[in-house]
Amino acid sequence: MAEADESILNKGLEGIVVATSEICKIDGANGKLYYRGYSIGDLANGSYEETSYLLIYGRLPNRKELSEFSATLVRERELPKHIVDILMALPNDTNSMEALRTCVSALGHGARDPREVSLEEQTRMGIALVAKFPTIVAYNYRLRNGQQIVAPNPRLGHAANFLYMLFGKEPDQLDARAMDMDFILHAEHSFNASTFATRVTVSTLSDIYSAFTTGIGTLKGPLHGGAALEVSLMLEKIGSPDKVDGYVREVLSGHGRVMGYGHRVYKTYDPRARVLNNMALEISQKRGDMRYYEIAQKLEGIMAGEKNLYPNVDFYSGIVYHHLGMPADINTPIFAIARASGWVAHCVEQYKNNRLIRPLDQYIGPLDLKYTKIDDR
Ligand code: COA
Repeated sequence: MAEADESILNKGLEGIVVATSEICKIDGANGKLYYRGYSIGDLANGSYEETSYLLIYGRLPNRKELSEFSATLVRERELPKHIVDILMALPNDTNSMEALRTCVSALGHGARDPREVSLEEQTRMGIALVAKFPTIVAYNYRLRNGQQIVAPNPRLGHAANFLYMLFGKEPDQLDARAMDMDFILHAEHSFNASTFATRVTVSTLSDIYSAFTTGIGTLKGPLHGGAALEVSLMLEKIGSPDKVDGYVREVLSGHGRVMGYGHRVYKTYDPRARVLNNMALEISQKRGDMRYYEIAQKLEGIMAGEKNLYPNVDFYSGIVYHHLGMPADINTPIFAIARASGWVAHCVEQYKNNRLIRPLDQYIGPLDLKYTKIDDR
């Protein structure tokens, strides 16, 4: 291998292509997103289970395959007793991302050496994690709020069951659909930080539980998950459509950021925001509460005109979550629940065509310092 040129610095790996992948294509210039070649706008009409199958197996399922896959997810939802015990033992101030990180790590105790596990078995373990994420999040939420846990309901799909376990009652069709759509839109996004982190872990031939634990820890940070919550807080702060103008001018004049706007990759309308915009409208109409949606519309016009900036996925998810009655601290866990399918796909792809991920740094410290014995320092 040729000697690496350490003088070329790409901070944050920005602009560096580190692998080939068949999973996701982001066309940032044209505002398009594809999972395995299918446009996100089309996939949003299906179910999360269908998208999950597509991401993991690389093709759309037929009816029988989808039904078997959905049944596997239902079967795998339950948590082993020792995981429920761990959830019960966690301090009350443990948030759902922390609980998720702990439980996924605990689920992996005794995980076999990946070199002795077939790719099919790795995939099955990953799917079991996809199934268990909502249960862990919902159980943690209810326990730390002093409520009884609500066991999964096998009659409900992935999204509807999550709402059921969280709120203790079956969601209506529109709420279940809104959650499902939101899961689909968050399921995958190429080499984002958490997905890349899972691939780094897998590249050492570590196990999939360790990879997911790394992914959760990475997604937890406010620069990755979490912007939807900021959007809800911002809309609340603005309060009414007539206050939007003043708010935006104040933020922009202070060189602040309007939450839910702009994206590192999309330089036009985020295609996920386009789909969620329609859902936000529908759910706002159904609730008979258009306040946030009207604020959002006004904000969109001003941001396009003033800054040439467009909403990202978090902008309209913020409104959808508000109408679903989603507790603020569940926003990032929702992201994790959805993204778990993307992580399985990436872990398997990395195992299949592995190369240890090991970048270089540009050392800027001193060299050849004189070592003195401890008593002489
Ligand atoms: N509000 C106001 N101005 C914004 C902005 C926002 N949300 N996002 C970007 N800008 C402006 C910057 O101030 C900068 O303007 P300047 O050139 O006049 O200084 C310009 O757009 C480029 O910003 P930059 O930070 O270089 O873009 P980026 O690609 O690194 O940033 C984000 C991407 C997502 C970090 C950024 O748009 C942001 O902070 N958005 C708000 C948080 C958010 O919604 N995050 C969720 C992302 S899915």
